[in-house]
Amino acid sequence: MTDIEYDTNPEALAQRFPKDFTWGFAASAYQIEGAAREDGRGPSIWDTFSHTPGKTANGDNGDVACDHYHRYRDDVRLMAQLGAQAYRFSISWPRVMPEGRGAINQRGLDFYRRLVDELSAAGVEPTANLFHWDLPQALQDRGGFANPEIVGRFADFAHLMATRLGDTVTDWMTFNEPAVYAFLGHADGIHAPGLTHWPTAIKVADNELRAHAAAVDAIKSEVPAARIGVAVDINHFAPATDSDRDVHAAAAYRATRDTWFLDPFFGRGYPALGVEQHRAAGHLEGIELSDPPHGRLDYLGVNYYRQETVHAKSDAPFDWEVLPRSGVELTEMEWEVVPQGLTLGLEWLQREYAPAEVVITENGAAYPDTRVAGGEVQDDDRVAYLARHIGAAADAIAAGVNLRGYFVWSLMDNFEWSLGYGKRFGVIHVDFEDQRRTPKRSARWYQRLIAASRR
Ligand code: FCB
Repeated sequence: MTDIEYDTNPEALAQRFPKDFTWGFAASAYQIEGAAREDGRGPSIWDTFSHTPGKTANGDNGDVACDHYHRYRDDVRLMAQLGAQAYRFSISWPRVMPEGRGAINQRGLDFYRRLVDELSAAGVEPTANLFHWDLPQALQDRGGFANPEIVGRFADFAHLMATRLGDTVTDWMTFNEPAVYAFLGHADGIHAPGLTHWPTAIKVADNELRAHAAAVDAIKSEVPAARIGVAVDINHFAPATDSDRDVHAAAAYRATRDTWFLDPFFGRGYPALGVEQHRAAGHLEGIELSDPPHGRLDYLGVNYYRQETVHAKSDAPFDWEVLPRSGVELTEMEWEVVPQGLTLGLEWLQREYAPAEVVITENGAAYPDTRVAGGEVQDDDRVAYLARHIGAAADAIAAGVNLRGYFVWSLMDNFEWSLGYGKRFGVIHVDFEDQRRTPKRSARWYQRLIAASRR
């Protein structure tokens, strides 16, 4: 795929978006908050996982992270200075319900109250995401998302948060990347809770879909005007070659992963090709699959990072590999940089599902950030990445996609899950020795873009 032309001039880029477009920053609880054992917070599966030897790079964990729990005021101030119109954060379930059910932790709730009040005072619209993977360990001990009781528990948690924050928060998200949670956590084992059992992963996915629907009801019963979405990770799938095998593998990969969630969210039940592939691979053993309820999304959140090139190793289901294509530009994650994949993905979603609205809920890149001058990180590679992807988003709008907002991942460098602190995605640099925050050149660039969009 050839690269698209792009303009790194943020003022010019801003003009390609409607005036009421929302520009924001994104982060998640376990990746930034720290204060893992403070004020009554219970342990989450990510505490357990990151404290298990060998599970994360350097044995890194989120005990302290960016210490955002104590520094949220400064972080909100910094974000506001950069012109943020919105901030997408997640709520740590074990901070507000240490066991995931029953007792409520008022001090945990107070933290989110203070955070949303601070955001409102600074003129930054909060988007509250209920689940960014940090399940209370006490619920995992009962089977976690593989246990159908989770549907009711999640709805209770959603209801609690709606009653406590619903006067201020209009924009909600139920799940972040439910496919990553289900499959990386329960089939691949590289994320918490670290299981490697496909039928469990399929049950987890099924209960996430049901929990989403239950949470929508729970939130709307308290906050009828709430706008509720979900963030799915949509990468650009490309077959490695034009061979029938690779083309089929790429289609099968999508059907077992992306459309496995998208089809049910849009009321279509599970995709036939996905069912056929999962069944043939033995992933549905012991499972009676029935279609989950319609997701009733007010908007679809899209997290986009990369192209995934699918190589079939044989005709057997799941016998494929996702490896970077040679010659394609890569980020430090070894993710293929293909901005046009974002345009194509958004157009595909529009054609296929016609979501009421779409928001890019994550987009960004990790780079080593080694060029520092005058105290500033000169992350020109990140600026180029953002400029091209934001340009690609503008192309999608020009093609008729109802795209309403863009959230950069991430506000600041943070705990990148099993890769620890080694991979920096922030537009704000964090010195993990002394917690000093320094906006990178990309933050200044984004600030100019937002400022220009207001004119
Ligand atoms: C996404 C996650 C987010 C972050 C980025 C790099 O899959 O939602 O927490 O790790 O990738």
